[in-house]
Amino acid sequence: MTNKYMYFVANWKMFGDLRTLNSLDKVIKFSKNNKKNKFKIVYCPPNTLIRPLSRRLKKTKIEVGAQNCHHSYDYGAHTGQVNSTMLKNVGAKYVILGHSENRQLGEKDNLINLKIKSSIKTGLKIILCIGETLKERRQNKTNQILKRQIEKGLKSIKNKSKIIIAYEPVWSIGKGVIPKEADLNKAISFIKSRFVKKYPKILYGGSVNANNLSVLKKIPNIDGFLIGGASQNPKKFIDIIKKTIN
Ligand code: 13P
Repeated sequence: MTNKYMYFVANWKMFGDLRTLNSLDKVIKFSKNNKKNKFKIVYCPPNTLIRPLSRRLKKTKIEVGAQNCHHSYDYGAHTGQVNSTMLKNVGAKYVILGHSENRQLGEKDNLINLKIKSSIKTGLKIILCIGETLKERRQNKTNQILKRQIEKGLKSIKNKSKIIIAYEPVWSIGKGVIPKEADLNKAISFIKSRFVKKYPKILYGGSVNANNLSVLKKIPNIDGFLIGGASQNPKKFIDIIKKTIN
């Protein structure tokens, strides 16, 4: 795994304020000291922090992303919404789409598909989250769910070069549990099999921490991690990166 180019994407969710950014100095230093290593750090803070964060990271290799966007490429009367153009304008290079926390609020595959299309048009890289719930897993529907989320989410998108898939089993997020090695292997292989030639990079997300990396590192087709809780703590985040690349 260490020879691969690995992604470490921090999803801060609805956490963080301007003061939080001071805590990033440790990660910036770590990134500068490890310039030759093959990994990419991406921070996806709340929208309120994209601009200040991207300014702070200007002279580093760390990039910034957003956690969601409106599906319209054009500006419009959509109260409280932000589109991909606006996100790019303040420094975002990535956008997380289809996160289960938004699917649980009613976001459907066809809406996610529109968001992906407008974000591609803007020039953002997309981290498309997919994953089954505990109920679906118990009903042995994992592959069926992953297939639907991939097919509908990426419907009529020919050029997938900007797409990164993040497999996040819903039952693992924030729960401190990760899938068994064999199950994770199966799910990641299944995702890979849905892409004919050049499959996108595939990340794993759900309770990633320095202690369970020994299991996660064994999965050959994982290209990195989408990290929630542990990414808010610079020491924990750096530990995850160190344990993966060493
Ligand atoms: P946790 O790492 O807190 O389980 O969150 C995972 C996640 O939802 C990342 O998008």
